[in-house]
Order: sequence, then C-alpha cells, then structure tokens
Amino acid sequence: MTPQMDNNSTPHDPAASDEAPGERRQISRKGLLKAALVASAAPLLAGGGVALARDAASTGNGPLAPTPECDDGDDPTPPQMEGPYFKPNSPRRTSLVTPSTPGVPLTVSGYVFGRSCRPISGALLDFWQADTNGSYDMAQFNFRGHQYTAADGSFSLTTIVPGLYPGRTRHIHVKAQAPGGRILTTQLYFPNEPRNNTDALFDPELLMNVRNVGNGRQGSFDFVLDVAQTPGPSEPPTKPPTEPGTSWASGTSYRAGDRVTYGGVAYRCLQAHQAISGWEPPNVPALWERG
Ligand SMILES: [Fe+2]
Repeated sequence: MTPQMDNNSTPHDPAASDEAPGERRQISRKGLLKAALVASAAPLLAGGGVALARDAASTGNGPLAPTPECDDGDDPTPPQMEGPYFKPNSPRRTSLVTPSTPGVPLTVSGYVFGRSCRPISGALLDFWQADTNGSYDMAQFNFRGHQYTAADGSFSLTTIVPGLYPGRTRHIHVKAQAPGGRILTTQLYFPNEPRNNTDALFDPELLMNVRNVGNGRQGSFDFVLDVAQTPGPSEPPTKPPTEPGTSWASGTSYRAGDRVTYGGVAYRCLQAHQAISGWEPPNVPALWERG
C-alpha cells in the first residue's frame, strides 16, 4: 500500500496568470544563466576547464567565455524540507520511466555549480517524485533515481510531470551533493501552477523553466551548491601536484590531478578536496580514478 492515494489532481492551466511576484524575475535570471552556459559550452567541451567572465575580471587574464550571470547574487540554491517520502538507496539511473509509463513526459536538465560559478562534475543528484496520480512509491523505487553530473556539470532527468497530492503544489524532490560536500535537500517547482500561491513551502527561487515540447515538457534548473571552489584554470596552482607514489593520507588537501597510491594502487584526483577517513580512493570514484 502506498500513502497518499488520493487523486486530487488539478488540470494544469497554461493560461493561468497566477505568477507570484518573484517568478518572472527568477525566470529571467535563470534564462540569462542558461544563455551564459550555452556560450561557455565550447570551452567546456574543448578544454575541460571553465573560465567565467567574473574570473577574467578578477585576474586580469583574458576571458575564455562570457558568463555574466552566476555572480549577480545567485545565492546557493535554498534548501527545503525532505518530506515523508524519501527513501535511501535509489537506483542509479537518469530515466524514471518506460515508454508505457502514464503521465506527461518531462525532461529536467541543467547544471550544478559551486559558489565560484564553476560547474561541479561528479555531483550526486537524487530525485524522487510522485507518479501522475500524486502517489509516492514507498514499497519499491518507482520515480526514484540518482545520477552524477557529467564532466561539464550537466545533468538530465527523464521522467513525467508529477501529479498533485493534497496540500502541495506540483514539485520534484531532490538531494544534491558535491563530492565530499554537504547534502542539499530541496524541491523544484513548476511555473504557472495555481497552487504555487497557496503552498507554504513554495519558493520562487526553486522554479524551473518549463516549456511545452510536443506532448511533453522540458524543464531546466541550475543548482548552486554552497561549496568553495579552487581558483580557475587561468590562475597558477599554489602548489605543484604531488608526485606519483605519495601514499593517500586522511587530512591531506588534494588538488585535481594529484596522484597517490592506496593499497598499492595508483590513483589520480578528479576534484580538489580535503581527504577524510572513509574517502579512501577506492570508496569515492567521484574523487579518484585509477591510473
Ligand atoms: Fe512531495
């Protein structure tokens, strides 16, 4: 038996003009951020590094790409309550549906950034949501799945538009965590939902951009996690990478590219972090790869 079997769905009314005061501003800002990402896509893919306009301005080095919007007061993505329907150990997958899953098809895509507006690769995103009838599957893992951001910080989720259930507006739950970082638990919302005005949890900062495409919808959202990031690639490193053969040690601050050995196996650091017990290289593929 699953809880919340009530189907109290309210048909989505795209013509509804219930937009909260903050919604339009947020959409505009997210849109600009997205435009910046498109502009920076080429250097992201070509060099694996990211240089933002903000970094260029602060260092005096030439800009690699204009990225105007990640430093305009984009505070870290705000947290929201977990709610009663989270289940740990969701399957790793980017699609929560099959071709026969009832509901309106939805994709949600975007990027995960840190405080310095650089994409975070290997960030964990664990989504859970109601089915089209507003029910959460507590017995199994339907409409639950986790994934990791790609090297450019991007993610994409294939699902359906979640149904409504009593007391809430339409939303998707998510936990986001940079490698070695704290978990952000929050929720994503849909614009032009009548219940956005009556749901006390609703936060316009957490609105996705959503557009209709064919029979489905495409949503986008960019997370900003409250994690410090190392200087950009245009700045020289403050210390050279460790030489191969150094044994991994808890408490050490490692930089991307550092090489260590652990258990007689060589590893290369994928992302700067301070090592702690439990993050031994074999345990955290987001931080270390063999080689
Ligand atoms: Fe929920």
